[in-house]
Amino acid sequence: MSDPASDRLSRLRAAMRPAGVDVVAVVPGANMRYLAGLEIHLSERLALAFIPAEGQPAMVLPTLETPRARSQARFPISFYSWDDTQGPFGALSRCVADLGLAGKQAGVEYTAMRVLELRGIEQAAPGIRTVDATPLIAELRMVKDHEELAAMRRAVRVVEEALGAAVAQIRAGMTERELAAIWEREMRARGGEPSFGTNVASGPNAANPHHSNGDRAFQAGDLIIMDGGVWNDGYTSDITRTIALGQPSEQARAIYDLVQAANAAGRMYARPEATGEEIDHAARKVIADGGYGQYFIHRTGHGLGLEVHEPPYIVAGSQEPLTPGTTFTIEPGVYVEGVCGVRIEDDVVITTEGAESLTSFERDLIIV
Ligand code: CO
Ligand code: CO
Repeated sequence: MSDPASDRLSRLRAAMRPAGVDVVAVVPGANMRYLAGLEIHLSERLALAFIPAEGQPAMVLPTLETPRARSQARFPISFYSWDDTQGPFGALSRCVADLGLAGKQAGVEYTAMRVLELRGIEQAAPGIRTVDATPLIAELRMVKDHEELAAMRRAVRVVEEALGAAVAQIRAGMTERELAAIWEREMRARGGEPSFGTNVASGPNAANPHHSNGDRAFQAGDLIIMDGGVWNDGYTSDITRTIALGQPSEQARAIYDLVQAANAAGRMYARPEATGEEIDHAARKVIADGGYGQYFIHRTGHGLGLEVHEPPYIVAGSQEPLTPGTTFTIEPGVYVEGVCGVRIEDDVVITTEGAESLTSFERDLIIV
C-alpha cells in the first residue's frame, strides 16, 4: 500500500500542472494537516509550507516548532527556521529564493492565508502571481481513503453512543443548555471532543435553524432538535436527530414524517455520478410535494471530513458528479415559525454501488 501522504503529494502535483500552478503555499490548518501531516498552530508567528510542482517541499516556521514538524512530516521537507529575535522575513526570503519563485504562479488559500503571509511572499518573490488553490486541494480532500473513513466511522460511533445516553436523560423542565452540556459530557466520556457548538433547540425555538442554546425549559409536546459532532484523529462527525418529549401535535408529527422521508430520499439518491444538485433536489421535492417547500430554508448538506463544512455542497448549482469515497451530510429540515422545527442529519459516503450512511442512529421518531 502506498503511503497516503506521498500519494496526496503526487495527486496535488498532478492537479497543479494543468492549472498552471508552480507552487502551492499553505498556512497551518486543515490543508497543511492533510497534505503534509503537520499539526502546527496558527498563531501570530509566520509558518508556511511550500509545495513546488517539482523538487522537495520547503517550510518556513518558528524554531520552536521545527523539531515537532520534522518528526511529523510524512515526506522530506527543507526547513527554514526563524526565531523571535530575527523575525520571519530572512528565512522566508531564503526559502523563496531557493525555490526560485520570483515571477511564478503560486496557489494560496484565499480564505485562510493572511495579509502577513501574502505580503511576505510578494516581497520575497518579486513578480509572483497568486491564484486560489482552495478548489484544487478541496478536490483531493473530498474523496476519503480507507484510513480517513475509519477515523470518521469512529467519530460517528462516539457521537451516536453519546447521543443515545443524552436522549435517555431528557426530562420535562430541563433546559436546552443543560441538555447540550449533558450530550457534550457523554461525548467527552467516550473520548470525543465536540467539533462544533453542540446545538439544542426546543419547541418554537427549533423553528430557527440558527438558534443558540438558551434557558427555555422543555415542555410536554416539544420537538427537540439535537445537532452535534466530535473529532476523532482530526476527522469529524455531524449528526442531527429530532426527539419528541411526549406526544407531539398532529402537525408536528406530519412534519417529522415528511422530513424523515426527505432524508431517506436524499440518501437513496446518493450514488456515484449523482451531483450535489440532484441529491438536494431529491430531498427537496419530497418536502415541496408535502406542502412545506417554503419552510426548507437551507441546503440539503455539506461535505464533511477534516472540517465540519467543506466541499462538496449538496445544493442547487453543485454540478460536479460525485465519486466513491466522497463524504457529506444529508440534513433536510422544516422550520415553521411559532410551531416547531425538524431536522434529520446523516453522514454518508459514496460507494461503488450507491451510498452508505455512516450514521445509523434511529430515524423513526423517538418519544421520551
Ligand atoms: Co449538524
Ligand atoms: Co451539518
